[in-house]
Amino acid sequence: MYAEWDTMDTILAVRDAIATKYPVELVEANEDAYGKLRTLRPAFVFNIAEGLHGVSREAQVPAMLEFLQIPYLGSDPLTLALCLDKARAKEVLSYHGVRTASFVLIRSMADLEDARVRFPLMVKPLHEGSSKGIYNSCVVRNPEELEKEVGHILSMYHEPVLVEEFLPGREFTVAMLGNGDDLRVLPIVEISFDALPAGMNPIYSYEAKWIWDRSDKPLEIFSCPAKLTEAHAEEIRDLCKRAYRVLGCRDWSRLDVRLDAAGKPHILEINPLPGILPRPEDNSCFPKAARAAGMSYAQLITAVLEIAMARCGVPASAVVPRTITEPV
Ligand SMILES: Nc1ncnc2c1ncn2[C@@H]1O[C@H](COP(=O)(O)OP(=O)(O)O)[C@@H](O)[C@H]1O
Ligand SMILES: [Mg+2]
Repeated sequence: MYAEWDTMDTILAVRDAIATKYPVELVEANEDAYGKLRTLRPAFVFNIAEGLHGVSREAQVPAMLEFLQIPYLGSDPLTLALCLDKARAKEVLSYHGVRTASFVLIRSMADLEDARVRFPLMVKPLHEGSSKGIYNSCVVRNPEELEKEVGHILSMYHEPVLVEEFLPGREFTVAMLGNGDDLRVLPIVEISFDALPAGMNPIYSYEAKWIWDRSDKPLEIFSCPAKLTEAHAEEIRDLCKRAYRVLGCRDWSRLDVRLDAAGKPHILEINPLPGILPRPEDNSCFPKAARAAGMSYAQLITAVLEIAMARCGVPASAVVPRTITEPV
């Protein structure tokens, strides 16, 4: 339930990184957040709130900030909610001709009867992140496996199930920073599945992310920069830039990409609120890509903050310690 949430370690690392350049205070994204933000009236908010309930959960704090007219970092409520609904995001991508695997949405077991699909398939919950609900068994090769996995997700998550064409090729994750013409693609990270235990499906499953990869024994699953020809890297960067733009991403995002059998890249999903675990042994991809580009964790955090402040027209001089003395 809480897998998407940042740990205190990450929250404090973000705070310390911001504190290298600006005064900073923490506001917990709980039910009291609205009142605190209203009283504090910060010059700028570094939003990393994941939310807990519903498909619009990532949009809730940004919506409060818009209501209060407080500028903040990252995508707006519409983009955050849209990207969490993987089917809606794929519809927008398809409309704009940005390649993404074909899919059907299954709302109940009865829907399976009319589903016209070709095996193998990938089965996943519609709106979870952090590999929640994505198990090794989610790659299905026949109707019996499909029915079992769909039934499992429907009963466990009580949300529609995305049944997608399985993309058999290499997988990458692409960290992006900036806006408009200054959109920058950081070195591409490859996820190679050779390091997974023998016999497992080549996917970044819950088991791979949270069980087989431990900070005391990191799984050798990532390489950055990915070994790609310049033309192939450019094709992936171009696909990601188009996806970022058509979905209205701002300041930063991490996009998951996978190749089809012909080697053509497809967008798997867009993460406008990327994971940013601070320690290299945590194997968090956005900070990893930033390190490959020569940026420390603190440099990454202050860079994205300044990109966002510039977008909102907030000068550094506006960010000063608050003068209110009563506790909030
Ligand atoms: N259509 C697909 N084809 C092949 N692998 C997939 C597909 N969709 C998801 N996966 C695998 O499952 C992993 C998790 O899926 P993703 O949609 O990125 O979920 P999450 O939001 O949990 O990161 C991906 O990193 C990839 O390895
Ligand atoms: Mg993903």
